[in-house]
Amino acid sequence: MSPKPIRKAVFPVAGLGTRFLPATKVVPKELLPVVDRPLIQYAVDEAREAGIEQMIFVTGRGKTGIVEHFDIAFELEQTMSERGKDLSVLEPTRATPGDVIAVRQQVPLGLGHAIWCARAIVGDEPFAIFLPDELMVAREGGSGCMKQMVDAYNEVGGNLISVLEVPMEQVSAYGVIEPGESSGALTEVRGLVEKPPVAEAPSNKIVSGRYILQPEVMRVLENQGKGAGGEIQLTDAMAKMIGTQPFHAVTFDGNRYDCGSKTGFVEATLALALARADMGAEVRKIAQRLLG
Ligand code: G1P
Repeated sequence: MSPKPIRKAVFPVAGLGTRFLPATKVVPKELLPVVDRPLIQYAVDEAREAGIEQMIFVTGRGKTGIVEHFDIAFELEQTMSERGKDLSVLEPTRATPGDVIAVRQQVPLGLGHAIWCARAIVGDEPFAIFLPDELMVAREGGSGCMKQMVDAYNEVGGNLISVLEVPMEQVSAYGVIEPGESSGALTEVRGLVEKPPVAEAPSNKIVSGRYILQPEVMRVLENQGKGAGGEIQLTDAMAKMIGTQPFHAVTFDGNRYDCGSKTGFVEATLALALARADMGAEVRKIAQRLLG
């Protein structure tokens, strides 16, 4: 029997984005553009490609622009139509009516708390989570990260997280898995720890911002105390699910850019611009000139 389909995705987007101030004083970090699409658009596109229908944004004060982005801007479309402009550029921003839902995380108590804020909308279904800071780019002709995870989920069911290997000295910034047996891109998860000191990290495989979780995690989060950094951690709640349900890690075949850091953001912008048919050649020349 194939497992229940993944129809819903939760996007925790309540963060203040202080690392990008002053850019993020008024504009939510998730709306900063990588080339010509806001960061959040890449995550929503990836969700749609994986067959996900309902987008649940966990927002906060000053972040409503994210929801606006997926609405129809009537005046804009009207004016563009009158001027004979092509509206297809807005196509990715069109949500199916009723499929964009926003809930609020009033207080920033951590990622686990943000996810728990979506419990009533998630209900009793497995669901996906996207951390939009992590920009996951498919290989030419390949599928996106969540699509690869959903394909794996259809075989093994249960819970899945995307992982990638980083240099050991970087693990303390992430959730880290204790890996079990591997087969292809799939690795069994035996343990999970959030932001461990390097010396205590069980591996260099870090959780990279994509999850497929069973709804039981919401019950665990309900009683989850504070963990690393004094925050309610999703990783700690997931760790408690290991052993009660299947738990696997998927190594994404593609490229990942960490847009949570300024240099990662610049890297993503450059990489995506270089890969674009309409500007790649020109950007390459510019980059070469700048590098002298
Ligand atoms: C969060 C998660 C962590 C994960 C990381 C990926 O941490 O808690 O497990 O590895 O995202 O970006 P944060 O970056 O919010 O500190």
